[in-house]
Amino acid sequence: MIFEQIATGGCQSYLLGCSESHAAVVIDPNLAQADYYLGLAAREGLRIRYVLDTHTHADHFSAAKELGLKLGAPVVTHSLSPAPYANFRLADGEILRVGGMRLKALHTPGHTRDSMCVLADDRIFTGDTLLIGGTGRTDLPTGDPDALYDSLFGVVLKLDPALKVYPAHDYKGRSHSTIGAEIESNPRLQKRDRAEFIEMMRHLNLDAPVHLTEALRTNMSGGKTVAQFLSDAAAQVPFISMAELAERVGRNDLGLVLLDVREKDAFAAGHIPGAQHLPRGQLELRVNKELPDPTRRILVCCEFGQISTLAAATLREMGFTGAAALDGGVKAWRETGLPLRTL
Ligand SMILES: [Fe+2]
Repeated sequence: MIFEQIATGGCQSYLLGCSESHAAVVIDPNLAQADYYLGLAAREGLRIRYVLDTHTHADHFSAAKELGLKLGAPVVTHSLSPAPYANFRLADGEILRVGGMRLKALHTPGHTRDSMCVLADDRIFTGDTLLIGGTGRTDLPTGDPDALYDSLFGVVLKLDPALKVYPAHDYKGRSHSTIGAEIESNPRLQKRDRAEFIEMMRHLNLDAPVHLTEALRTNMSGGKTVAQFLSDAAAQVPFISMAELAERVGRNDLGLVLLDVREKDAFAAGHIPGAQHLPRGQLELRVNKELPDPTRRILVCCEFGQISTLAAATLREMGFTGAAALDGGVKAWRETGLPLRTL
């Protein structure tokens, strides 16, 4: 078996490959590493055949949909997963064959309703059901401490004590543990009485994950994250530096349409000399009147440089092939002490 563990902060993901057939599966891929899995697989001579999520993640963005689309690989989840892009759903006990490897799904609800652990040879990928020295929390949507008790004490902890445990999270840089070691020393597993375990899980008082709503929105729907939206837009537009714009302003000849897409008040309070005003919210509807020549070079600017990127991408999509975005925004321009005009 070819095996790589990829950590992103506290999130752990895994690339598992069959050394004979070179078929591979990625487990719990993180969106921030989407290109890295492809590079790793290429380096190891593997073809990723499946992309698997052990559960609906609430704390980070899954790369399952993106990788699945890029690779033409099925996205594997438990059958209760709400993700509409999941197209290979496993029920408890079912086996996924990846080349010569056999991955067995064990339904282990508790952290979420759709949680599963995946057994592969001498190891088990426990998602957030069992962590090293901990367990997944049960206070987020579809969490259930009663179900987690059954999944842990009735299923996972009954497995071979020598099985290596690879969780979906570890915040202390540890790579893995074993079932036996967890039974012995995991503090949460010392509460072996159901009522005591549930009581403990109900009173952990954990902070909500930073990106909770965005992670659930995107992981449950397959929609884009804000960062993805911005990076997709940025990939479609060229940028012009602040220094170049400053030089054009200095010589009093912009040589392009400088389009400020901020709101009216911000534009009136101070804009780059020569800028034309067209708020982002009205862009598509007023574009024909305000920008009659689609072949002109257009440089879009805003306060921080993000809305201008989105606006420039929209303009390109509408046929303004000369649209570019300012690499920076009016805020940085102002702070550098470059000239501004007021209305
Ligand atoms: Fe989780």
